[in-house]
Amino acid sequence: MMRRVLLAANWKMFKTVPAALAFGRELLRRYDVDHFSAIDVMIFPTALALWPLSQRFAGSPIQIGAQNLDLGTEGALTGALSGYLLREAGAEYVLVGHSERRQHFGEDDELVATKVQAAISAHLHPILCVGETAEEREREETLAIMRRQIGAVLPGLGSQDAIKLTVAYEPVWAIGSGKVPTAQDANRAAAAIRHQLGERFSPELADRIRILYGGSVSPKNVREFIEAPDIDGALVGGASLNLETMVAMMESLAH
Ligand code: PGA
Repeated sequence: MMRRVLLAANWKMFKTVPAALAFGRELLRRYDVDHFSAIDVMIFPTALALWPLSQRFAGSPIQIGAQNLDLGTEGALTGALSGYLLREAGAEYVLVGHSERRQHFGEDDELVATKVQAAISAHLHPILCVGETAEEREREETLAIMRRQIGAVLPGLGSQDAIKLTVAYEPVWAIGSGKVPTAQDANRAAAAIRHQLGERFSPELADRIRILYGGSVSPKNVREFIEAPDIDGALVGGASLNLETMVAMMESLAH
């Protein structure tokens, strides 16, 4: 099964709307459709920039996603952004359970599972983020932690939902730290995720689900991760904020 390579840019709480639009304009100028035809490029800007950026990318292959969603559709929930609103603002994908959401916003496995279902109900494609902390890694609990994080989400998903799922393996200690696991270690984690998906659904279905690596990905190392057999793309924070490093990563994946 050939899974298309995905380069997903997580901009976190960076870039004003004008800065996001300027980046979008320049990215489109540099985006040669034929040259980059083998990869999918996706941007996760702040929620404020979703609509303007989706308008800018309209008619181009570059896709847009949100970094988080709240539960519900519409209602008296001050400050909340539902999957429905994000979808109507141009998002096609949504990150769920990013470690920064788990750490700073108290999101636990149960809430993450509910959010994955809410994303699917809102016709968004969820990218479920999982990964161990440094302490968990030292205790050699990496695979057990991921098994728990993914195991919380899978019971609520049918096969039709699972096809829409992407999983991102992001070791917490690698995010924004400049430290990375070896491609072999990252692949071991990705293979374990695929195995668990295969147990829940079928190996054939698991074979169709994209698994990304994230954490200090850069133009220097992105290719190595992608070449690992169970890793189908990268979720990139810091290095995606700069146009030159973003284009350099696209270049290194394009051939
Ligand atoms: P980083 O972030 O590339 O800056 O390490 C990755 C992420 O948090 O998705």
